[in-house]
Amino acid sequence: MDMTFGQPSAEAEPSIAELLAARPWLTVAPDVGLMLDRIPLARVAREHGTPLWVYSDTVLTARYRALETALTGAALSARIHFALKANTTLALLRRLAALGSGADVVSLGEYEAARRAGFAPQAIVFSGVGKTEAELSAALARGVGQINVESAEELERIAAIAARLGLRAPVALRVNPDVDAGTHAKITTGKADNKFGIPSDRIEPLYAQAVATPSLRLVGLAVHIGSQILTLEPYRRAYGRLADLVRRLLARGLPVERIDLGGGLGIPYGTEPAPLPTAFASVLSQAFGAFRLPVILEPGRWLVGPAGLLLARVVLQKHGAARRFVVLDAGMNDLLRPAIYDAWHGIVPVNPSRLHAPVSPADVVGPVCETGDTFARGRALPEFAADDLVAILDAGAYGAVMSSVYNLRPRAAAVLVEGGTARLVRRRQTIDELFSDDMA
Ligand code: LLP
Repeated sequence: MDMTFGQPSAEAEPSIAELLAARPWLTVAPDVGLMLDRIPLARVAREHGTPLWVYSDTVLTARYRALETALTGAALSARIHFALKANTTLALLRRLAALGSGADVVSLGEYEAARRAGFAPQAIVFSGVGKTEAELSAALARGVGQINVESAEELERIAAIAARLGLRAPVALRVNPDVDAGTHAKITTGKADNKFGIPSDRIEPLYAQAVATPSLRLVGLAVHIGSQILTLEPYRRAYGRLADLVRRLLARGLPVERIDLGGGLGIPYGTEPAPLPTAFASVLSQAFGAFRLPVILEPGRWLVGPAGLLLARVVLQKHGAARRFVVLDAGMNDLLRPAIYDAWHGIVPVNPSRLHAPVSPADVVGPVCETGDTFARGRALPEFAADDLVAILDAGAYGAVMSSVYNLRPRAAAVLVEGGTARLVRRRQTIDELFSDDMA
């Protein structure tokens, strides 16, 4: 059964109680219903409206610390560089920067978000298969810790830009290890067929040639094989290949300062097992411990996914010829993952009277004019009435960042629950703002 992508059989789906038991930050009080970090979600919805992203500072902080502790415990000198593509809410980025995280960015926009959130230029890794000349020049001129290079062609371009700016560009070569991460095809990145990285057999000569280029400073190798990876085997294989390459570079006397191991660590979207950070850390130390080199990790989803939910209101419940539809005020423009990856997200009622009511199959859908605008099919849920609330769980990663204004629906607001209060950290876009860049 694939809980993460695709439709699991109804019997295999976790119940509402099981989903909540696995997420102790979500609790239920008989009078107010579902709470996040003891803040009633009904109150948050009343104050800030819906659809609404609700993030937990406590969960984010605990996850960062757990990963950091696992890495330290495995005697690794590791630096966590949060992959901003998963979430660019500045309040969350500020928290991560304060915790000591670095940043992994893939565009000038993300570079700017990282700087605004307080990440030092040296703590920023710039990744991505299609960095433009303008983006590379800006990052180099403003300062960047490392640029992950995805091709010989890009390396040449970076060398030329750096020479023009009179700089030495710190670069790592991204290896394509030709390993299947065993995840959804659309987020697999480490196979030979994928657009990412440089084939392993071209790394050595390219590295040696780059070391001899005065405008480049070779800092090491990088790899990233995909996202939502739920078993450690693909990591073992990819990291084994990377370690071989590092050994060969070092044997030739070439400088390697650090190794960038990418992100991809998966989370349970239901109650399925997912690797623990300690187990992941031991894979890292087996592959790289002997080098005594610092390693970089680029986790996105693992840090922020469980720390966020999408709070939505039921517009109405309707009965089709054969199915019950729960129509929400949140749609695929807000949370796109179910529509494009068939991704499974837990959906939990917020109102106390619904939380323990009998359940029957329902399709949970958004208001957008496409059948793909479906959050769940045949999900065991109680009867709903207009104005009820539901929480779509584990939406902290690749939620708000992938949202759009499709159907001219304004972007949702976001609140951060911290220190016993819910603070608005992104206000709802207005209807007027939908037209603010239209020149007509
Ligand atoms: N580093 C690189 C080079 C990446 O391409 C990615 C993700 C990450 C790090 C972070 O991966 P994570 O730890 O978050 O798995 N929109 C998709 C996920 C796309 C991931 C793209 N690259 C989704 O909603 O599942």
